Amino acid sequence: MSKSPGFQTRAIHGGTVRDPLKSVSPPIYQTTTFQFDSMAEGARLGADEGSGWYYTRWGNPTTRLFEELMADLEGGEDALATASGMGAISTAALAVLEPGAHVVCPRAVYQATFTLFREVTPKHGVEVTFIDAVDPDAYERAVRPNTKLLYIETPNNPLMQVTDIEAIAAMARRIGAVTIADNTFASPFNQTPIAQGVDLVVHSATKYLGGHHDVTAGVIVGRRDLIKRATRMLRTLGPVLDPFGAWLLVRGLRTLGLRVERHNHNAAGRFSGRPPAGGEGSLPGPAVTSRSRRCHQAGARIWRDPLV
Ligand SMILES: Cc1ncc(COP(=O)(O)O)c(C=O)c1O
Repeated sequence: MSKSPGFQTRAIHGGTVRDPLKSVSPPIYQTTTFQFDSMAEGARLGADEGSGWYYTRWGNPTTRLFEELMADLEGGEDALATASGMGAISTAALAVLEPGAHVVCPRAVYQATFTLFREVTPKHGVEVTFIDAVDPDAYERAVRPNTKLLYIETPNNPLMQVTDIEAIAAMARRIGAVTIADNTFASPFNQTPIAQGVDLVVHSATKYLGGHHDVTAGVIVGRRDLIKRATRMLRTLGPVLDPFGAWLLVRGLRTLGLRVERHNHNAAGRFSGRPPAGGEGSLPGPAVTSRSRRCHQAGARIWRDPLV
């Protein structure tokens, strides 16, 4: 009986972009532009019709391989690479929000994400309510008739609080809002928010996905229709990942499972499932002593056991 490929196999062998010369390591298409055989072909590619490559801000084969791998590992319909994690978060947020919309976002999110929702989106006619807790009741209390986005970061930076993704995603569906979840700290090895109902996952690929402190990048993964809107926004705003950065990420993904497994193991051994003494934060995972038990129970449901 054939077994479906596991996480590590998919991280190494996934994607459909293949080198015609069959190199095991993918080529770096370090080019800004591609040649067209005719004006008509250029016009067709610029309009996203048919196969082929046009201009690296439109798309690039090396970048596409990274996107395909991420779509697969996160279980999304499609993915879009960006020049940084903030490039992913701002592009995704601006793609889903219209003037008059309302956003619910925890106060405890990555600092530049907080600045995005406090300073940038209000200039575009978007109201934001910052909530002091990350549990579903706090989200529920903040929801309004015009709420269009419930923003999640779990575990959050820097407190490592865990949000009940499934509950927030269900709430969003009920009120006709979209959910975006920042999955940077968990990585798709530990947690796949799309499987729990989230519409878009965002990452600072600068962290675990890259894994070597040598690439600043981001990625958005999720519903095809929303990725299409995000692509239009990215091509307009311009925070495009360069092909060498994409290649570094493809290489980083090949060891993501091994690295995160070791991180999990080390954390479990060091803290025995408890936050460090005197610490404000918490250690997510099945053995957690919880500051917010309900969320951590949700965390325990979805995280891999750190000792496995
Ligand atoms: C959870 C989280 N999201 C987003 C970001 C932003 O990522 P980048 O620095 O790649 O723009 C960071 C950066 O530390 C982060 O920790």
